[in-house]
Amino acid sequence: MHEIVSKLELAPKIKWFEVDAPEISEKSQPGQFIMVIVGERNERIPLNIAGIDRNKGTISFAFNEVGKTTKELGLLKKGDSLNVLGPLGNPSEIKKFGKVLCVGGGVMIAPMYLQAQAFREAGNDVTTVVGARTKKLLFFEDEMKEQSHKVYVATDDGSQGHQGLSFLKDVLQTEKFDRCVAMGPVAMLKSVCELTRPFAIPTIVTLTPIMVDGMGMCGCCRVTVDGKMKFGCVDGPEFNGHQVDFEELINRQKIFLPEERLSSLLWEKTG
Ligand SMILES: Cc1cc2nc3c(=O)[nH]c(=O)nc-3n(C[C@H](O)[C@H](O)[C@H](O)COP(=O)(O)OP(=O)(O)OC[C@H]3O[C@@H](n4cnc5c(N)ncnc54)[C@H](O)[C@@H]3O)c2cc1C
Ligand code: FES
Repeated sequence: MHEIVSKLELAPKIKWFEVDAPEISEKSQPGQFIMVIVGERNERIPLNIAGIDRNKGTISFAFNEVGKTTKELGLLKKGDSLNVLGPLGNPSEIKKFGKVLCVGGGVMIAPMYLQAQAFREAGNDVTTVVGARTKKLLFFEDEMKEQSHKVYVATDDGSQGHQGLSFLKDVLQTEKFDRCVAMGPVAMLKSVCELTRPFAIPTIVTLTPIMVDGMGMCGCCRVTVDGKMKFGCVDGPEFNGHQVDFEELINRQKIFLPEERLSSLLWEKTG
């Protein structure tokens, strides 16, 4: 079991935990994820690593309270313990590319911060887009400024910064980027890829298919990339965004929706 050493609320229903886990922190790299289990017998849920502090022996992650397990997780307090497995998945390719565009949406702004930091430390010129549905769900804008040469803010409803991501078309027409990395909801990843494709900017996206074991055994996280079947957990979670079958991924993410809703309702009623 791993102790929660700090807990923050980044935005409504978006929490940040720093967890004591020296053995995981030692091996973790940006782009990887962990499996979190609340209590002894619960399901495992995958969450991206958003902070690594090898001196303190901690890792951090941020999560959105969307269903039963993430709501249960959100009830834990500093000093409580939980099970964490990892690091899992492949690390991001971090090296000097030149100009890197980092797009983080929703809760995934948190792990994108770790990547932006790593790209900056590798000598890249980093431009960041911080996006959310609405103003009150934005966070880490100031932290991103520390890691980026330029930060753009975008909200779906236009309550802060640009409305939507279409402004990026003008940015891409005036500036040349050598790489784009995107983390966020699948619909956002798809839009980013449609924007970068005409400019032939290599675009790496973090996919979040539903996972069960996170270790390549169950096949639940199947995605199609370049017409081939891949497992999100062991082949990813990062893939060439221009080759991803996003429609299939969007449909597969909805497979268990009735069960997920029921599970959340039952938990809220009975605990
Ligand atoms: C590699 C990877 C990294 C991830 N990193 C993060 C992270 O850093 N922070 C974070 O908050 N979430 C992350 N997720 C998504 C997270 O695992 C799910 O939100 C979580 O499993 C939901 O569990 P639940 O029981 O609370 O909700 P459920 O009852 O399982 O689902 C509630 C709602 O959330 C949707 N949902 C469930 N799983 C996913 C998913 N994998 N992707 C998109 N929507 C989903 C369902 O369709 C449903 O609408 C990641 C997923 C993967 C595969
Ligand atoms: S989650 Fe089971 S194979 Fe990827």
